[in-house]
Amino acid sequence: NAQTETALNIQAPTDQIVSKHIYGHFSEHLGRCIYDGFWVDENSAIPNKGRIRLDVVDALKKIKVPNLRWPGGCFADEYHWRDGIGPRNERPKMVNTNWGGVVEDNSFGTHEFLELCKMLDCEPYIAGNVGSGTVEEMAKWVEYLNFDGTSPMTAIRKQNGMDKPWKVSFWGVGNESWGCGGNMTPEYYSDLYRRYATYARDYEGAPLKRIASGANSEDYKWTETCMKNIGAGRMWGLTLHYYTLPTGNWKTKGSATKFDEEQYFNTMKNCLRMEEIVTKHAAIMDKYDPKKKVALVVDEWGIWTDVEPGTNPGFLYQQNSLRDALIAGTTLNIFNNHSDRVRMANLAQTVNVLQALILTEKDKMLLTPTYHVFDLYKVHMDAKYLPIKFTSPDYTVGNNKIAALNVSASQDSTGAIHISLVNLDPKNKISINTSLGDLKWKTVTGQILTSANVTDINTFDNSNKIHNAKFSGAKKSGNNLKVELPAQSVVVLELK
Ligand code: AHR
Repeated sequence: NAQTETALNIQAPTDQIVSKHIYGHFSEHLGRCIYDGFWVDENSAIPNKGRIRLDVVDALKKIKVPNLRWPGGCFADEYHWRDGIGPRNERPKMVNTNWGGVVEDNSFGTHEFLELCKMLDCEPYIAGNVGSGTVEEMAKWVEYLNFDGTSPMTAIRKQNGMDKPWKVSFWGVGNESWGCGGNMTPEYYSDLYRRYATYARDYEGAPLKRIASGANSEDYKWTETCMKNIGAGRMWGLTLHYYTLPTGNWKTKGSATKFDEEQYFNTMKNCLRMEEIVTKHAAIMDKYDPKKKVALVVDEWGIWTDVEPGTNPGFLYQQNSLRDALIAGTTLNIFNNHSDRVRMANLAQTVNVLQALILTEKDKMLLTPTYHVFDLYKVHMDAKYLPIKFTSPDYTVGNNKIAALNVSASQDSTGAIHISLVNLDPKNKISINTSLGDLKWKTVTGQILTSANVTDINTFDNSNKIHNAKFSGAKKSGNNLKVELPAQSVVVLELK
């Protein structure tokens, strides 16, 4: 176990805030995320409130989920919201064409989603249907949700038991309009956005934060066209989707649990591409919006592997290893460090789908390594950003190398400083000597997430194999902080 050394220099606090909405999540009508994840059968013995699973809600409340995106994803552009309101036994059944061709019974709709958000104490982020829906349909949904007066939609809402509007604010105008959301060109989408966004009205006390459907990974032309043709004044945010594929190949993406060091290295290399992708999209946005009014909303990110053997390929169910946790820690550090522009993000997806926080099996539930990273990083939410300068040691495999270390830091309203550090190198620890400048502090404590192997996972039989533990590898030396950062670990320090 060799050791490399580096120095971190934490700069003075800025006015920049790490928005809590960077720590958002995403729940689509896909596989077992909503049905069999959040939502249980009518007479289920699993503890629930109005069919919403309570162990899942309790776990998510602990990490302070700030916002939840719904109903998709690709599903959003085939979702017709009026199918999901009113008496459940009268709701039409439809086919979920995107995800496995299964029956969607519409038992989980607008009221149920907003009840879930209330239970989680988080903000809803609804994606409206542009691909196969009409302008009128979207306009009426917003009226149903947000208008506090007399109108046909509010009459129906009241009939359905909701007297007062919910006042939803985050509003997606389509999803992946370049792909499953309609296979559009950016020019055509920009025009459609302007039209749909016009009639998605701001009602009194309920201004919308309209979010345009943005680029797929390195599609810089999409961002350029939207910024130019829609214009910064017409949107609150513009999205970006980027998934980490272990092999870089959509046909054979690679296993979630069985991979060698070369594949681990390639996965982390692909994960680190988020830095370049965000930087380049942000630079284009700067050209049209130098005051950074429009948020870059990375509302789909995470690792996408092959499904677990024997499961429905349309359900995107994958296990979650220590590798996933290192991806989460690294990506959240990238977002924190770009928090001048990245002001919202949503991991795909919350329960039983892709890089999930939670896996369920009948009445059993487990928290994945990724969940534990969100638990560690919640200290950054709405804290003041602290820039850091440093040079990372290399993590080398054969002739290839990537940065072994990534970090971010913030200072919360009580003055406590939090530094999150990720060591991607599975063999070598890193010795870090950190200058804190003029920042005053007396004590350091910390927590660590690591395990013997990057392939280690939590299972329903051993659900606590990977969990956060006390970290004692950080010491004060004058005003400097010395850290021995173990191989393949995520550490969050608190300096007070
Ligand atoms: O998160 C799974 C899918 O990935 C979403 O439905 C879609 O937007 C993206 O292609």
